[in-house]
Amino acid sequence: MEQVNVGIVGLGNVGMGSLTILAENAAGIAAKLGFQLHVKSVCSRSVDTKVLPAALGQVRRTSDWREVVADPEIHIVVELIGGTGVAKELIDAAIAAKKSVVTANKELMALEGAEIWDRAIRSGMNLAMEASVAGGIPIHSVLREGISGDRVVALQGILNGTSNYILTEIERHGTAFADVLAEAQRLGYAEADPSADIDGFDARAKLAILAALAFGVRIVPADIYTEGIRRITPIDFQYAHRLGHTIRLLCSARRSDDGLFLSVRPALIEQSTILASVQGAYNAIWVRGHYGQDTFYYGRGAGPNPTGVAVVSDLMRVAREIRAGSPERVSPFAHERLASNRPLPIDLRKSAYYLRFRVQDKPGIIAALAGILAEKHVSLDAVLQLPSDSKHNLPFVITIEPCLEQAVAEAVAKMAQLEFMVEPPLAIPMERPL
Ligand SMILES: NC(=O)c1ccc[n+]([C@@H]2O[C@H](COP(=O)([O-])OP(=O)(O)OC[C@H]3O[C@@H](n4cnc5c(N)ncnc54)[C@H](OP(=O)(O)O)[C@@H]3O)[C@@H](O)[C@H]2O)c1
Repeated sequence: MEQVNVGIVGLGNVGMGSLTILAENAAGIAAKLGFQLHVKSVCSRSVDTKVLPAALGQVRRTSDWREVVADPEIHIVVELIGGTGVAKELIDAAIAAKKSVVTANKELMALEGAEIWDRAIRSGMNLAMEASVAGGIPIHSVLREGISGDRVVALQGILNGTSNYILTEIERHGTAFADVLAEAQRLGYAEADPSADIDGFDARAKLAILAALAFGVRIVPADIYTEGIRRITPIDFQYAHRLGHTIRLLCSARRSDDGLFLSVRPALIEQSTILASVQGAYNAIWVRGHYGQDTFYYGRGAGPNPTGVAVVSDLMRVAREIRAGSPERVSPFAHERLASNRPLPIDLRKSAYYLRFRVQDKPGIIAALAGILAEKHVSLDAVLQLPSDSKHNLPFVITIEPCLEQAVAEAVAKMAQLEFMVEPPLAIPMERPL
């Protein structure tokens, strides 16, 4: 075999980024591999409108992915469509046709990656998915190979660049959430329907994949406790800063004696921690190993070129194995088998909390809130009130000492019923560093 032939399906952001790198960096890639990685076919619905890099040379174009899968000369199919419909059909068909698959599809890999891998390994094919989490950060390689000798005990990550961009813009400029979101949509950083990003579902799929790699567990993404960032306001950053913290949409996974705690939610994190300095659309992952202790990974979480690097690097690894005729495959989930697992209910965790209120000012408010906290055996830590003009919509904050989250949830539900509340209290955990 002189060269390894590749078919790329999906010519959007990631598809075009991957093609650009394969074309522009072809000599460097061949020098590393010792053979050519040849793009034989490309496919998208509107393939004829796509301007391909000239350096790719002669490439077959098709709008029917089945032609790519059916081509006997293609060794690796790259799925860059996204979603769980056509993408799944395509990957299943490719594996059945004895082709290895490279994908960037977090949604599908989080939901059905384990079964797809089973089918791939039974066919003697490979499945690679580095680009599915944190785009340009090679976190899969790290967990699968770099630190696979360790026993991961916890990880924290900022895994959604859109949310991080929005939060850091609110933090920097004091602009309201809705205005920052509208600007992010105008600039193309946020989708027209931003729910997957700002409600935490995109990050949840990524955390499910990381949990599989780190802990060998198969998690149903919907079982992960998830909250989005819609309620975060500029005033929350002012209070968080007063407390020496900032706010980020944090993906968290911790092993305990009883199981795993997994969550995606806004959290107050100490400004002195390395995660707090992650700004804009960047991603980061902090991993704590039992033996090797802390390692930290930082980089662009999305974008055609950073994600394209992950896709092309996967292609190179898979192509090497094909050329070497190696029957050995390392599971893309870093474990030969994944055990089904349900995360522990978040209510059982202990956390310190930030509670932000908006009230109609009147005497006795603090006493009423403190009474509810005492009833639930929750200890108040501090009360903070920044100067405000509005007596009808007065913000202030109470922090509480670490306690069972269930008690906090019950207290907050009761507080929400008080007649002086302008809106339900906002409760954000103050996440301790790993
Ligand atoms: N964007 C990022 O930075 C990023 C980062 C990490 C991972 N990912 C993942 O990478 C994947 C691709 O994302 P993207 O942002 O590149 O998406 P995108 O820009 O929307 O591109 C999707 C491509 O798929 C093609 N397509 C859709 N349905 C098709 C079908 N039935 N047959 C053939 N082609 C079809 C589209 O064709 P037309 O162009 O002809 O409509 C388009 O070229 C997703 O799984 C995403 O989650 C993206």
